[in-house]
Amino acid sequence: MSLKNLKGKNFINLEDFTSDEIEELIELGIKLKKKTQNNKDLNLLKGKNLVMYFAKPSLRTRLSFEIGAKKLGASAYVIKQDEIILGKRESIEDTARVISKYADGITIRTFAHSDVELFAKYSSIPVVNALTDLSHPCQIMADLMTIKEKFKTFKGLKLAYIGDGNNVTNSLLKGCALVGMDIATGTPAGYEPNSNQIEIAKKIAQKTNSKVEIFESPYEAVKDASVIYGDVWTSMGQEAEAEQRKAIFTGYQINENLTKDANKDHIVLHCLPAHKGEEISYDTFEKNQEHIFNQAENRMYAQMAILATIMA
Ligand code: CP
Ligand code: NVA
Repeated sequence: MSLKNLKGKNFINLEDFTSDEIEELIELGIKLKKKTQNNKDLNLLKGKNLVMYFAKPSLRTRLSFEIGAKKLGASAYVIKQDEIILGKRESIEDTARVISKYADGITIRTFAHSDVELFAKYSSIPVVNALTDLSHPCQIMADLMTIKEKFKTFKGLKLAYIGDGNNVTNSLLKGCALVGMDIATGTPAGYEPNSNQIEIAKKIAQKTNSKVEIFESPYEAVKDASVIYGDVWTSMGQEAEAEQRKAIFTGYQINENLTKDANKDHIVLHCLPAHKGEEISYDTFEKNQEHIFNQAENRMYAQMAILATIMA
């Protein structure tokens, strides 16, 4: 198997990739990190152009893609929602066909996952999902890279996701299953991950001999976990529900009391931005800050691996 086969492919859904491909991309991310840190020239995408569309705010995704693309020798151009309003000023189909004439790749952060799928149908350049309401695959590639750096393997490890069953959770379920790591979620009733995504993850887990477990109790979920993972209780686009969500998620804070039941050598990860004092306590965040900011750093290398592979 070689990553060469992935040239031109979209990076929209993790399940479109095999376990071997995901593991090879993670290894490439680790290699590119070492090379970058040793100031090696990485002209893998010299002369290429990446367009990045954002319908939602971003710190990490924007900068890690933009700077990562530049480190690979490519140029990156950001378009914000107010400039083109994807699907409103003109159709998504036409926008895709125009951007395909100028650029060599595009990242899209938006609301409806189906908009990214539609764009990809009409695009002749690879499309990368930079977060939709359904999933956030690039985040999970960085998360898996961080876990691999720390534990050297995925086998025998369990990740516990605590909080809102959201886009990050959906991608984590599939990502963990693909690399053969057990995953358990602890989410309040009515806030479980997307049921379709759970089914996809369970099917993958059967092949990789790993477990996908959905609990209401955060304590059940964290038992024997090596990685505990948190994300905001209110995702972008759900701001009107913020107060109601705070009340519902009260028992789901990742803190020293909850993490007692995890493995002794566990780490806590958070995709950021963090709302300390809500989904994670100040103490637990600071105790794990080295891992959490390494995870943020790895966004750049994991995405450089993706871009270098599909835009080559
Ligand atoms: N984790 C993440 O995607 O961060 P941004 O929303 O800042 O890009
Ligand atoms: N679930 C969060 C992730 C932010 C990176 C959101 O969609 O806002």
